[in-house]
Amino acid sequence: MDRPRDEAPPGRLVYVETYGCQMNVYDSAAIVGLLGAHGWRQTDDPDRADALLLNTCSVREHAEHRVISRLGELRQRYARDGRRALLGVCGCMAERLAGVLVQGRRIADLAVGVDQYDRLAELLEIALRAGPQEPAPIAIGHRGDAHYVAPPAANPANNSHLVTIHKGCDYRCTYCVVPLTRGPQREKAPEVILAEVAAVVAAGGVEVTLLGQNVTAYRCGEALDFAGLLERVAAVPGLRRVRFLTGHPRDLSDRLLRAIGADPAICPWLHVPAQSGSDRVLKRMKRLYGRADYLRMVEKARAWIPQVTFSGDFIVGFPGETDADFRDTLELVRGVGYDTIFSFKYSARPGTPAARLPDDVSQTTKRERLAALMAAQDEAWRQLAAAQVGQTVRAAVEARARRGAGWWRLRTTNNRKVVLPLRDGAVGQEHEVLITGFKDTTFLGEAAAGPRARRGDGSCGS
Ligand code: 5AD
Ligand code: SF4
Repeated sequence: MDRPRDEAPPGRLVYVETYGCQMNVYDSAAIVGLLGAHGWRQTDDPDRADALLLNTCSVREHAEHRVISRLGELRQRYARDGRRALLGVCGCMAERLAGVLVQGRRIADLAVGVDQYDRLAELLEIALRAGPQEPAPIAIGHRGDAHYVAPPAANPANNSHLVTIHKGCDYRCTYCVVPLTRGPQREKAPEVILAEVAAVVAAGGVEVTLLGQNVTAYRCGEALDFAGLLERVAAVPGLRRVRFLTGHPRDLSDRLLRAIGADPAICPWLHVPAQSGSDRVLKRMKRLYGRADYLRMVEKARAWIPQVTFSGDFIVGFPGETDADFRDTLELVRGVGYDTIFSFKYSARPGTPAARLPDDVSQTTKRERLAALMAAQDEAWRQLAAAQVGQTVRAAVEARARRGAGWWRLRTTNNRKVVLPLRDGAVGQEHEVLITGFKDTTFLGEAAAGPRARRGDGSCGS
């Protein structure tokens, strides 16, 4: 029987390497699913693969450099073997640099952007047949209808299944390349999201993380905002916990904060990047909120969401950032009390509004500020963590801990890691845990009572 033209012969193997954010982790799973429908199978061994795909990130220059050197390394390795494995670039770098990577220097054999994965199988076939002189396939550009659904992962990180709820971003933070590489915000329909969550439960999952560049801006028509979507997801029968990433401080409305506090299945953990504590810098970043707005949001969240915890992102050395601006950032970090922060040196991204400003904070100053910010966070965290000792928290089993036989790693509903010895460490099961100490960002604990089996008995936010 004839195979359709774009179908791979049986046994073709694809190796996928993922860089960057959780959105890419989800997209890589979707890519494997889409290729699977055309006869491709995934391999963990690049040496066995017919095609190697790097799913890439453009958010900082360093991330792109890592991929370019990895492409060079893979190219050399297979050229030396006399074997030509196909090298493909997917994701944000494909959108931004297809011309350079594939046409100019021919570092890769194809480039496929974030809205074109449904064409990947066809393009791989074209690239596999093409001679070295023939033009390499490129598919980039944004489409409204391009939403992919990844099959539920067998062993998701942290036992939380990722579910992307939209693509792109309509904000215009001046440093950020995402609106260029991922395009405008386009929502996945609520029915599709709910079906995906139901599929996770059917596959034995108990927790999902709703994902998007800017999830809190989700809106489907007039009737459904992100708070409404969260409530509907949390109500999916059999689901015990829902988390979400990433929120924009401006969109953490009173309605949303109250909805999180009211539903025990919605985990009380907010990842809300502040980026800076200086009003002057926030304005130049076009973040659309000031320091006081951010602190007000934190205060309300603390009042309305029991046990809420915060994490965030910060950029140091944004153009024009003075010592006084940076001190405002340190003060914000000390004042909020984050569990974790991710801090980055500003990296000018071509095509963004900030790239037109002089990158006038020296590398040395950026390095010093980054170190000072991390030290301030460590100190603030130690105080926060010490106050937890003696408290009882609820946490779900994730995996065996490296500490020794009988020890397990659990995650609290508010996203803290805790290790403790357990007689029965069934993954996903919830336990009451007495916090006895901490080391770095991991708590030590002991079982305070028997396992909690089902949601509905207050699995989150207690
Ligand atoms: N330079 C440095 N960090 C950046 N981020 C986004 N763009 C840049 C940039 N140009 C950081 C922000 C964002 C996180 C994902 O990456 O802190 O929240
Ligand atoms: Fe980038 Fe700002 Fe959109 Fe976040 S909200 S993805 S930082 S433009």
